[in-house]
Amino acid sequence: MLNCNSMHLLFALFIIHILFCSSRGQLLVGFYSQTCPTAESIVRSVVDETIKQDPGNAAVLLRLQFHDCFVEGCDGSILINNGAEGEGGAGGNLGVGGFDIIEDAKSKLESVCPGVVSCADIVALAARDAVSSANGQFYEVPTGRRDGRVSSKTLAANLPDVDDSIQLLKSKFWQKGLSDKDLVLLSAGAHTIGLTACFFMQKRLYNFTTTGGSDPSINPGFLKLLKATCPFNGDPNVKIPLDPVSEFTLDDQIFLNIKNGLAVIASDARLYDDNNTRRILESYIGSERSFQADFAEAMVKMGKIDVKTGSQGEIRRVCSVVN
Ligand code: HEM
Repeated sequence: MLNCNSMHLLFALFIIHILFCSSRGQLLVGFYSQTCPTAESIVRSVVDETIKQDPGNAAVLLRLQFHDCFVEGCDGSILINNGAEGEGGAGGNLGVGGFDIIEDAKSKLESVCPGVVSCADIVALAARDAVSSANGQFYEVPTGRRDGRVSSKTLAANLPDVDDSIQLLKSKFWQKGLSDKDLVLLSAGAHTIGLTACFFMQKRLYNFTTTGGSDPSINPGFLKLLKATCPFNGDPNVKIPLDPVSEFTLDDQIFLNIKNGLAVIASDARLYDDNNTRRILESYIGSERSFQADFAEAMVKMGKIDVKTGSQGEIRRVCSVVN
């Protein structure tokens, strides 16, 4: 039998548990349905408009969510303009964009529901809308993220790098609670749209081996093509499609490309180096439907990395500046 003191203790623990859980909160599909019912449609119309102007913006917005979530969790910290010392100043964030698109959606949202919708949620919703506009499967995005207040270059030092080994790529994803399957789906899956700068190809094309050779996994005919587009000492800013076969369509094509030595960046090629990631990759070749469903699931999972909810963080008024 519990005596009166133990009952009080249990009751106190129960209250602490309730307070702790409610301050942490949780993500919910339709989080803004009462507080800002038009939130998702406003984001959608901004995304549709920007992709109508430039179809390449779908890839820009998809990449933005990855770079947001991998540093300090999905908290919109990538958007904070903290100069060279901020996240944006980290080498791994080179070329990341879409900030103005998120800011545009934010200012429209502030005019209808001020102080309600977080920048972090706008990033997640915009990535979802970008995926579906690029022919990817539509998925529900659980919302309720709150914005972080910290943006630091040092915190972004450990982003996955294009020249990482497969072991390192796997471990960087594990550290974020993502599996080998998520690594294959998210990195190769996302790279089925968008571009890379020749800058990221240099090592792979001209300095992969100790004798200055190229990555032997590249198909010889494709290597010639890549070298012609990205010559040694050429302009590092020239851009080429990550999926030369279907640049604007989010589909399972890239898995076949990788198998055939047609991966453009090294980190995609590395997915074929490891037994487990190779097996996963091959399972999606010609399996468009399961790729679409699993990619959507992996995006939702990535969108939950270290989120701030409840009373944590803040709802920024302007995405580039903390309140
Ligand atoms: C293994 C980890 C990854 C590495 C090493 C990596 C690396 C890169 C690199 C080097 C580029 C070219 C950037 C440029 O030239 O500006 C790129 C582009 C891109 N990445 Fe990744 N990435 C990874 C994972 C992801 C993930 C998880 C996503 C999203 C879910 C993603 C989405 C994209 C998209 C859509 C582009 C094209 C961007 C554009 O056209 O502007 N990447 N990535």
